Amino acid sequence: MIKLVNVTKKFRNITAVNNVTFSVNKGDIFGYLGPNGAGKTTTIRLLVGLLMPNKGDIFIKDHRVNKKNLKDIKKEVGFLFENPGIYEQLTVYDNLDYFGQIYGITKKKRRYRIDRLLELFTLQDRKNSICYTLSKGMRHKLAIARSLIHDPSILIYDEPFSGIDPETQETIRNVIFDLAKKDKTIILTSHHLYKIQQICRRIAVIVRGRLKECDTTENIISKYNKPCVEVVLQNFLTVEDKKLIQSFDFISGMIDDSNKLKIYLKSINDIDKLIKGLIKNRIKFVEIKKNVGNLEDAYMSISKT
Ligand SMILES: Nc1ncnc2c1ncn2[C@@H]1O[C@H](COP(=O)(O)OP(=O)(O)OP(=O)(O)O)[C@@H](O)[C@H]1O
Ligand SMILES: [Mg+2]
Repeated sequence: MIKLVNVTKKFRNITAVNNVTFSVNKGDIFGYLGPNGAGKTTTIRLLVGLLMPNKGDIFIKDHRVNKKNLKDIKKEVGFLFENPGIYEQLTVYDNLDYFGQIYGITKKKRRYRIDRLLELFTLQDRKNSICYTLSKGMRHKLAIARSLIHDPSILIYDEPFSGIDPETQETIRNVIFDLAKKDKTIILTSHHLYKIQQICRRIAVIVRGRLKECDTTENIISKYNKPCVEVVLQNFLTVEDKKLIQSFDFISGMIDDSNKLKIYLKSINDIDKLIKGLIKNRIKFVEIKKNVGNLEDAYMSISKT
């Protein structure tokens, strides 16, 4: 559906994107992560043809992105940029209507779609507001609504969760889920790793222009998080108990926080041995659970490489 092959983009002496290759499948929600200045926005600008690569090829559906087919690409893609470029002097309705016209949508269809989108983003009561009177979050919702006006099959969103309240983040998350259910393909960048972990099936991490990882969210989390269990003890741990647990040959480390223990196992299959060891030594616990790890820890490990 979307493919980058050995893509490089340089700005004078800065190589913003360095020989990057990855692909995104139809219906995927794909997270494109990396620290500030890593090359995420540059990649996205390349994807939608706003920039041309110095080297490599980009494919959107059946099109190889080049200067000549930008019109075809724009029909397929809806996008959101850090600075969405809304027409400040137009009303909310007219902003959407104007974009609908650009994409050649009939007046009747435009009216129908705009009403649905305003409803989806709870902007109905601001339909006739001039855009410079909108709050930042409303503007953000309008920009996302606008990306959907031509019912594109690919959505590319740069920082969709940035600077908005938790309710709006939830609305956008639900919209993204619904779009994926309709087989739309979604790429998003974000520094909200918890949100990304919740919604993205696959993830790529770019650091200083180079792609460091590209895999399913699950694989990335398990690759970079050591197997670990959390144990809630009935009583505080005595010094002897602590020494005893540390002497178990199947554990590789332990963090002791009052009556809560984080125990790193050499293999997650050793959880049975741990339970038996605790019972045998009369160390009473009220809860024990696997900690599958999180994207934030994995991301921190990747971004340091
Ligand atoms: N038009 C430009 N001219 C010169 N350098 C640029 C230009 N656009 C981006 N860069 C440089 O390319 C690198 C990657 O920038 P980019 O905006 O792609 O990063 P990013 O991953 O989106 O970062 P952030 O998380 O801060 O948004 C940076 O070093 C940036 O300064
Ligand atoms: Mg950026």
